Amino acid sequence: MKKIGILVSGKGSNMTAIIDACHSGYLLAEVKIVISSNPSAKALEIANEKNIKTIHFNSFPSQNINEIDVSICKVLHDNKVDIVLLAGFMKKVGPVVLEKFEGRILNVHPSLLPKHGGKGLYGMNVHREVISAGDKESGATIHLVNNEYDEGAILAQKSVIVGSKETAESLASKVLEIEHRLYVDTVKKIIEGSISI
Ligand code: GAR
Repeated sequence: MKKIGILVSGKGSNMTAIIDACHSGYLLAEVKIVISSNPSAKALEIANEKNIKTIHFNSFPSQNINEIDVSICKVLHDNKVDIVLLAGFMKKVGPVVLEKFEGRILNVHPSLLPKHGGKGLYGMNVHREVISAGDKESGATIHLVNNEYDEGAILAQKSVIVGSKETAESLASKVLEIEHRLYVDTVKKIIEGSISI
């Protein structure tokens, strides 16, 4: 049974999809810990309701960026985590975590990378950029995390049509809807060995 650690900052709908897939048995895995950069993230509330252990950055001994990296790594290690999933995590993963979990950290990004990725491009900013670029399609990407924003190897993508009257808000909900299944299915393929990381 693989052990998963999830890093969040916000609403936590992708996190919820992963936890629910573990609970239903669709994923042969267990979410051991949810770590949030934001103490008031909705994701923390949801994880607590689902009896998943949680921790947020404010309870780390130091708020120095390098020390946060070390603390995250320690929490993941102490919980014997095999795979780290970023699910709406809006911070950069530090070098200590990257080295320890190299090739075992995944992210979901709300565009068809390499389009509309990079520093500052997260959440609604991505959808606003897609609309102003006049793209006819967008989508979601699951990729490995390295030390550059949104540049790790792409593992899976799914596209959606951008309608002529699409707004950034309507596009965001359309993309979020496909993210959940894409993320869960990619993690399933990794666990079952049909995608090797
Ligand atoms: C999702 O759309 C995810 O792709 C995006 O934030 C949203 C989080 O929603 N992530 C990024 O933009 C990361 N670069 P959630 O908290 O409900 O899963």
